[in-house]
Amino acid sequence: MVKVAPSLLSADFSKLGKEVESLTRAGADWIHLDVMDGHFVPNITFGANVIRDIRSHTNAIFDVHLMISHPKDYIDSFVQAGADCITFHVETKDNIAAVISMIKKHKKKVGLSIKPKTKVAELIPYLPMIDLILVMGVEPGFSGQQFNPVALKKIAELKELIGKKKILISVDGGVNDITAPACRLAGADVLVAGNYVFKSADKKKAIKLLKGNA
Ligand code: DX5
Ligand code: ZN
Repeated sequence: MVKVAPSLLSADFSKLGKEVESLTRAGADWIHLDVMDGHFVPNITFGANVIRDIRSHTNAIFDVHLMISHPKDYIDSFVQAGADCITFHVETKDNIAAVISMIKKHKKKVGLSIKPKTKVAELIPYLPMIDLILVMGVEPGFSGQQFNPVALKKIAELKELIGKKKILISVDGGVNDITAPACRLAGADVLVAGNYVFKSADKKKAIKLLKGNA
């Protein structure tokens, strides 16, 4: 069954520990943590210290999404903070293979993300090295944007390319009860959702709906 990774980007930042606990109680499989540097994307969120401080509030997998220009300089600190999976962007100017091996050296899962305008082919050289692909359904930077259906085509294309390799496909941005069924049908393994989960009066029900269980 598909996994749901609520994004903390839509949480109340004055009580992140409590927010993480409530997501865990609601059945979140993973917690998606959006790190932005105001350079790779036009927004700034939080860094490794915040992740370290919320780590003790849940045993859920920490799925860290780095939207930063130089992931290479920060891998060690995100590992120390408690990241389980570290995803960075194929559009970064850092040496991608080098960043992948840094993450693997720490025995953590590695993800590569692609923006809506980037071609799936950019990922091909790295497929033998990664555990997850994060397909963006929006331009990274902000929550609450509308889903771009180009993500569905990419998921389907990636399914073909991946074949029997053990790589999870995650989709991030604009995922809600309306767009989730198409993402699942296209072959997504993980659904990231910020706005939809946090705007719902009942987070547990929202997560169930994303999974396709009414
Ligand atoms: C966007 C982030 C997403 C975002 C998803 O740059 O990577 O994780 O929080 O938010 P929603 O679900 O609100 O589109
Ligand atoms: Zn994200």
